Amino acid sequence: MTLRKKIVAANWKMNMLQAEAAEFVKDLLLEIDDISAVEVVIAPPFTAIAKVNEALGKAQNIKIGAQNMHWERSGAFTGEISAAMLRDLFVRYVVIGHSERRAMFGETDEIVNRKARAAHEASLRPIVCVGETLEQRERGNVEKILSLQLRGSLADLTARELRETVIAYEPVWAIGTGRNATPEQAQEAHSFIRHILQELSDQTTAEHIRIQYGGSVKVENARALMSQPDIDGALVGGASLDPRSFARIVLAACEDQEISELSA
Ligand code: 13P
Repeated sequence: MTLRKKIVAANWKMNMLQAEAAEFVKDLLLEIDDISAVEVVIAPPFTAIAKVNEALGKAQNIKIGAQNMHWERSGAFTGEISAAMLRDLFVRYVVIGHSERRAMFGETDEIVNRKARAAHEASLRPIVCVGETLEQRERGNVEKILSLQLRGSLADLTARELRETVIAYEPVWAIGTGRNATPEQAQEAHSFIRHILQELSDQTTAEHIRIQYGGSVKVENARALMSQPDIDGALVGGASLDPRSFARIVLAACEDQEISELSA
């Protein structure tokens, strides 16, 4: 069995002014200063990226993510941000195709795919989000939707690029609702996602790709979710705005990582 390093990311969405971001990082470092068992990513709004970087100082184990980017390198795209601009701010990861962007800003799988390819071209690692709505789940279309989203969003990525891509399974009905998928429901979806990843590449590659769960992850449910065999971390919204609760979710991932390492 491949041992994947868990990855826990904070998606702050449209929250946090610079001073709040700096305060958050200061408090977070008090709790998880020297974590190395799992990867930790903070994805602030663009306007707080530089501040977060400054506040992290030498804490190189915590990486910075962005919440979106444009696929073109430069040019007349008013209001947009390129991959190179993110690199310039020491960003390492970028969330792509979040369901809020798909639903509110018209992002299609084709757009997500362009962004994912542009991210890799600039050596940024995309966190590609997929997930079904409640209606799609109730109609029994979870696998169909996930398959379409994955095939469309990851089209033409090489095996090497796929290994450096993180997938986030975020059922839309679980985002910001307080209603998380059960560990069993999430595991079922993650295992299906890995099966599709294998079809898109090969078994070894699919076993290396990390699949995060997102949707009402909290301190109380983090451990049960992340101890599932195909759940390799969490993409945390609301609970990531509080440094202590985010730290506890990171620590839950560490405990699980350590147990997996002992039993491997
Ligand atoms: P919540 O954790 O607030 O449900 O948000 C999840 C999410 O959208 C992370 O990207």
